[in-house]
Amino acid sequence: MATSMARRFVAAACVAAVAFALLAAPSSGQLDPRFYDKACPAALPTIRRVVEEAVAAEPRMGASLLRLHFHDCFVNGCDGSILLDDTPFFTGEKKASPNVNSARGFDVIDRIKAAVNAACRGNVVSCADIVAVAARDSVVALGGPSYNVPLGRRDARTASQAAANNSIPAPTFDLDRLASSFASHGLSLQDLVVLSGGHTLGFSRCANFRGRLYNETAALDGPLAASLRAVCPRPAGSGDDNLAPLDPTPARFDGAYFAALLRRRGVLHSDQQLFAGGLGATDALVQFYAANPDAFRRDFAEAMVRMASLGPLTGASGEIRYDCRKVNYS
Ligand code: HEM
Ligand SMILES: *[C@@H]1O[C@H](CO)[C@@H](O)[C@H](O)[C@H]1NC(C)=O
Ligand SMILES: *[C@@H]1O[C@H](CO)[C@@H](O)[C@H](O)[C@H]1NC(C)=O
Repeated sequence: MATSMARRFVAAACVAAVAFALLAAPSSGQLDPRFYDKACPAALPTIRRVVEEAVAAEPRMGASLLRLHFHDCFVNGCDGSILLDDTPFFTGEKKASPNVNSARGFDVIDRIKAAVNAACRGNVVSCADIVAVAARDSVVALGGPSYNVPLGRRDARTASQAAANNSIPAPTFDLDRLASSFASHGLSLQDLVVLSGGHTLGFSRCANFRGRLYNETAALDGPLAASLRAVCPRPAGSGDDNLAPLDPTPARFDGAYFAALLRRRGVLHSDQQLFAGGLGATDALVQFYAANPDAFRRDFAEAMVRMASLGPLTGASGEIRYDCRKVNYS
């Protein structure tokens, strides 16, 4: 009974998601997974090799590269804007509140760019495409699903710290704000739930879950609260950078994140907002993905393609950066 209700809810959510995606139609039609097949067939294998090396050396790097793609795409589309360094004359997105002391993987992107330019004998692959492919290869390297990444994005010549502050959802958000953030990018409630499943990988800093430990203990499993308090002291500012895994298996793409939410073991407030004990608007989706890891893998791959297609610069817009950290000379 409960299961069939969940199925119907999920089916309805899927239909709604498809209809919404068609209406919102990000200009993904201009991107093409085979974009570099002629110009540089070595591009994708080269990206994969460097990602595999980086993830083998440090599994968390796969999580960090996945998050970099999310934070790039949610700020004026997937245009490599997050990669631009601050200079005395230019304010980028790296010091925006969601990214400062947090976004990582920039050195790996630099290594990929150098390797790809060598393999392609020239500057043909955009930094934005490198970030998108590195995210997919990271997911695969940690046991997640593969998917074809639409390609042909061009790199922005601008960045916006204000947009990065405002367009990336915060871990303090309640469900309605999470949903409207995703909706503002043409992404559905189902996309919100399934993409939050990216938290099957990686870690959070104490600063981002302290509020959940000392203020809202009722919504947090007791034993987990105790172990998180051990790494995250109460006084604001103390131990802010101490890390806790976002799910019990932070280096494996699996269903443990959703299973944890069912037990009130979400690490971030925003995570637990997706499951409110059976009564919330997204609870049936969390139950569905916890019970159906294969559906999670399939729907995650599809939702990643939607996210990867947000507002790309194509054609003659933007540029192919030589150095992912700075715009080309004009
Ligand atoms: C739904 C809204 C989301 C919120 C509020 C959120 C928030 C956060 C926060 C606060 C952290 C910890 C950062 C730190 O402490 O340094 C984090 C980590 C992470 N997020 Fe999200 N996130 C969201 C959605 C996503 C999505 C859509 C993805 C990818 C599909 C994603 C992938 C990750 C990954 C992989 C990490 C771990 C990064 C690492 O270990 O370096 N998140 N997220
Ligand atoms: C973005 O947020 C950071 C950190 O909270 C703040 O220092 C900065 O002034 C903000 N930038 C803009 C343009 O609003
Ligand atoms: C707990 O909530 C109070 C107000 O409700 C707030 O002032 C305080 O900063 C919060 N504490 C933490 C650790 O987030």
